[in-house]
Amino acid sequence: MSDESLLSLAGVRRAFDGGRIVALDGVDLAIGSGESVALVGRSGSGKSCLVAIATGLDKPDAGAVYWRGRKISSRREWAALRRQSIGIVFQEFHLLPTLTAQQNVELALMGGRADQAEQRRAAAAALDRVGLAGRRDNLPSEMSGGERQRVAIARALVRDPLILFADEPTGNLDSVNAEKVAALLLDLQRERGVSLVLVTHDTELAERCHRIVRLSDGHVVEDRRMGENVT
Ligand SMILES: Nc1ncnc2c1ncn2[C@@H]1O[C@H](COP(=O)(O)OP(=O)(O)OP(=O)(O)O)[C@@H](O)[C@H]1O
Ligand SMILES: [Mg+2]
Repeated sequence: MSDESLLSLAGVRRAFDGGRIVALDGVDLAIGSGESVALVGRSGSGKSCLVAIATGLDKPDAGAVYWRGRKISSRREWAALRRQSIGIVFQEFHLLPTLTAQQNVELALMGGRADQAEQRRAAAAALDRVGLAGRRDNLPSEMSGGERQRVAIARALVRDPLILFADEPTGNLDSVNAEKVAALLLDLQRERGVSLVLVTHDTELAERCHRIVRLSDGHVVEDRRMGENVT
């Protein structure tokens, strides 16, 4: 694997039900620093499995994941990477319902080096960046789906990750909110130079990324840079 890639998967296989269901079958994929990659493919093609393995939330049955060319092997290394360098946004937001927007974002900083005042400031700045400065003290139940997703993005962002994974972040949103969230993710990618891996069923959104990777039955069947012909 090239040392120039930030995160890469090599020969990743993941099967379920004693091998009857093969979700990923020999996947090689390298994500470069600062690039936006749309991960597309039909339902069941393995996109979420790939995200889970690329973020260390699940383990491959064979193959490995590398960070800057170095194999990540322990839970401890994965935990450190997710704390410092990898942000994740899910379709279902996963906010804690009893905490305010501000507290949900601050939670991502707990156990880190920042003291409480710094945590508060950083969380407020992240909420400000996603356009929710006025909603800091609201609970998730008091916010729209689009607003909740923006809180989740602020939470992923607050630790300044180098790579952000978003698994169908607009899947539960109406078209207006979906566009707001999509534009926010792409803007953040550009302005911070963070790598973005965006799982989406939206072709128009995928085409706004630098690169489109298509999965089919657990295989990468297409890997295309925008402006290039299909490979
Ligand atoms: N825990 C599990 N146990 C059994 N099978 C699983 C499990 N997780 C995923 N699978 C199977 O692995 C395959 C890939 O699933 P995955 O969730 O990655 O698909 P996906 O591309 O994200 O689909 P969607 O677009 O619907 O989200 C599917 O056939 C799915 O049923
Ligand atoms: Mg999925």
